Amino acid sequence: MAPQDGIAWAGDISGLLLYRSGQFQAQLFTFPPGTVIPPHRHPNVDSFDMFVSGDLTIRKNGKPICPCDFFSQTIDGLPRLRAVGFHIGPEDWHSGEVGPRGAAFLSFQHWQGLEPSTIGLDWEGQPANEQHGEQLSAPPYAKEIT
Ligand SMILES: [Fe+2]
Repeated sequence: MAPQDGIAWAGDISGLLLYRSGQFQAQLFTFPPGTVIPPHRHPNVDSFDMFVSGDLTIRKNGKPICPCDFFSQTIDGLPRLRAVGFHIGPEDWHSGEVGPRGAAFLSFQHWQGLEPSTIGLDWEGQPANEQHGEQLSAPPYAKEIT
């Protein structure tokens, strides 16, 4: 199993690989409370992402992708914006702020030019944390498609 398969960790951020077929895959990401995801883009990935739970503001090209700040849970504990999705293309710079409940989202990815890995390693921009920075400075996991 390659290091990016199964659960990809970057500090306490996790990306669980749920599905992979050819150039397509799905990962479930979870973030601890208070995580700040700096502006970045994934130059080889076209993705469609869906809120799952917690408190999360995603900014795409500097603008919040929904009219709210943190999305919140209903009284029964389900997220109000559950199943609300957003598109992040390879050219889209985006960032995130996680609130007090942590956050989770699903990422459905189409990899272009590289074999699928974790989007945490197809990353242009500041790393999310120290371990992530170490991963980005290591030899790349993903292989170019020839
Ligand atoms: Fe991202």
